[in-house]
Amino acid sequence: MESVIGLVNRIQRACTVLGDYGADNALPTLWDSLPTIVVVGGQSSGKSSVLESIVGRDFLPRGSGIVTRRPLVLQLYKTEQGQEEYAQFLHQGNKKFTDFSLVRKEIQEETDRVTGKGKQISPLPINLSIYSPNVVNLTLIDLPGLTKVAVEGQPESIVQDIENMVRSYVEKPNCIILAITPANQDIATSDAIKLAREVDPAGERTFGVLTKLDLMDRGTNALDVLEGRSYRLQHPWVGIVNRSQADINRNVDMLAARRREREFFAASPDYGRIASRMGSEYLAKLLSRKLESVIKARIPGIMSLINQSIDELEAELDHLGRTVVVDAGAQLYTILELCRAFDHVFKEHLDGGRPGGDR
Ligand code: GDP
Ligand code: NA
Ligand code: MG
Repeated sequence: MESVIGLVNRIQRACTVLGDYGADNALPTLWDSLPTIVVVGGQSSGKSSVLESIVGRDFLPRGSGIVTRRPLVLQLYKTEQGQEEYAQFLHQGNKKFTDFSLVRKEIQEETDRVTGKGKQISPLPINLSIYSPNVVNLTLIDLPGLTKVAVEGQPESIVQDIENMVRSYVEKPNCIILAITPANQDIATSDAIKLAREVDPAGERTFGVLTKLDLMDRGTNALDVLEGRSYRLQHPWVGIVNRSQADINRNVDMLAARRREREFFAASPDYGRIASRMGSEYLAKLLSRKLESVIKARIPGIMSLINQSIDELEAELDHLGRTVVVDAGAQLYTILELCRAFDHVFKEHLDGGRPGGDR
């Protein structure tokens, strides 16, 4: 049985493509109803690093300042052991990227293509899929970092523009918020927590992530935050140690970094007893489980939207007949097929398919 997350990913991609044709039907509502995970935090809080750790590959543009200037919709597909890892961009058709440094370059170029080379931002997302035996099925969205001041070359409005863009994602009730805060900053001043608290006051769909635990002052620790005493969420906080800038400059690879992160927690007198609930691998599993359970809980609602979409798409195809632009017709047809497949698989899950059994 195809995983529900994989199916949702495919529907999302088809909706995105169709959006370009201004399809006039239930698809926009369908897209909004599909759960996603959005990464939120201040600039340089470690958002891109957390994403890379979850994927286990080096592929995101990085640097100081505002590097992420368009939303990046990242869809991860777990493949069989031994399969080659590769990436594909929606805007690049079937072109396969196996060199992940070229993925980084393409993200940069595609960002500049829409925003210009300056420091402008754009709400138009870049869609990237990664197929790998080393990932869990997940959809994650990387967003520009929240900031307090515009820098040279940016319009004054950028602070508010970024906040509005981030808010437009996190205010949707189906959005799971990955709120990133660096451990060397006071949690009370965290931009991520501030925004998450506004849109999710009960903390039901917020995952608190504390990065840079290795950079805390000697003699201090983050147990108050990690054990939920400083700021309580329904889900447990997860502590992370990403690569430092020096590690990146020295080309410390992701596998070595993951291993070192595990060792950091296991050997720590402060965190040793909670080590099994810390780190990026644990975070990835936690998120995948959460995403799957949210999708399953919403199956009835998603199914009724899909059935509505099927009816509307059929009517639309009838109506367009042969005069339709070939591309648009083909895309409508694709999503119709996907909706039917989706309907079928979801029914199997509802009919007591293996609980949690995804692959
Ligand atoms: P973003 O702007 O939120 O996407 O942040 P980045 O992931 O680009 O990280 C900003 C800088 O902080 C980079 O130089 C990272 O190497 C560094 N960094 C991120 N997380 C950690 C961490 O857990 N420990 C250390 N020592 N450095 C980190
Ligand atoms: Na950055
Ligand atoms: Mg970033």
